[in-house]
Amino acid sequence: MGAQFSQFFPPSPTWTDADVGSQDGKVFIVTGGASGIGFEVAKMLYRKGGKVYIAGRSEEKAQKAIKEIQTTVSEGGSLEFLHLVLDDLSTIKASVEAFKEKEFKLDVLWNNAGVSQPPLGSLSKQGTELQLATNCLGPFLFTQLLLPLLEAAAETSSPGSVRVIWLGSQIVELSAPQGGIVMSELTSPPQDQTRTYITSKAGNMFLASELARRVGQSHNIVSVSLNPGAANTNLLRYSPWMKFLARPLLYKPELAATTELFAGLSAEVTLEENGCYIIPWGRISRTLRQDLAAASKLTEDGGTGRAKEFWEFCENKTRDYM
Ligand SMILES: NC(=O)c1ccc[n+]([C@@H]2O[C@H](COP(=O)([O-])OP(=O)(O)OC[C@H]3O[C@@H](n4cnc5c(N)ncnc54)[C@H](OP(=O)(O)O)[C@@H]3O)[C@@H](O)[C@H]2O)c1
Repeated sequence: MGAQFSQFFPPSPTWTDADVGSQDGKVFIVTGGASGIGFEVAKMLYRKGGKVYIAGRSEEKAQKAIKEIQTTVSEGGSLEFLHLVLDDLSTIKASVEAFKEKEFKLDVLWNNAGVSQPPLGSLSKQGTELQLATNCLGPFLFTQLLLPLLEAAAETSSPGSVRVIWLGSQIVELSAPQGGIVMSELTSPPQDQTRTYITSKAGNMFLASELARRVGQSHNIVSVSLNPGAANTNLLRYSPWMKFLARPLLYKPELAATTELFAGLSAEVTLEENGCYIIPWGRISRTLRQDLAAASKLTEDGGTGRAKEFWEFCENKTRDYM
């Protein structure tokens, strides 16, 4: 319980953006960077001289965010919009093609965008439960298609500096069923939007550890998941009463962005730590729930293989859009 308490009430960060050197020459994508935590991540990266792509479905919102960042930060790198609709798999390849027209490499991908507890029955364009689609299937496909660009960056970067970041949530450790995900719920989702949100966030943890296992050592790419920390953002737009109740526990998005920035840029997150889980405001968790840690390991390595199963589920659902 102490481990959970310290995520509700984290100690002050010991690593902040002040520890980040110039990111000139680095190329970053922050999905959902037009609002909330992602906006703060994009701002910090821009301030450090990075080339930052804010990926999202609304160009208007992204351009507004870009203008706001450029007004507040006097000198920075560059900011661009990348069109990305995570709940429509048929559009994602075109987003990656548009990115490839401008860039040959990608240093860090923050799979930050997400949706939480939309109205019951909300579906993606392909008819999948919306949270599973937006939080897992879209980012899975996006990441798969971007892998060659991450590999290109890894060829000329210091070991462990090319990364993919996946957004989990504390609610997984607090409330996910044993093993994180009940596989049958992926095809027959329960009529409980909190439960399906938890499933999608456990899915993000599993995609992180599984990507680390698959391309970590061979391609020199780090893949980690995190609980950013509870932040006062638009995420609970569909559950205002829940936001009201949680308000005393919600921190500024800047702090949660520190967790994401730590995951993407801190030298503490090495290839040896690949697949790890990061907690607020930038600490590698050493106390992850045991059944979730076991799910991330293959059965031959003493785990349950659930993460691999989930990866294969995502592979099957996205195959036609590769
Ligand atoms: N805030 C917290 O306390 C908390 C806690 C744990 C985890 N997280 C995670 O942190 C991440 C960021 O959330 P936030 O709190 O910053 O909330 P937010 O302000 O609502 O940000 C979510 C972003 O995702 C984008 N998005 C949603 N659906 C999309 C789609 N189909 N295609 C493309 N982009 C889409 C949203 O764009 P639109 O404006 O167009 O909808 C928005 O920019 C999420 O993954 C969330 O699960 C947050």
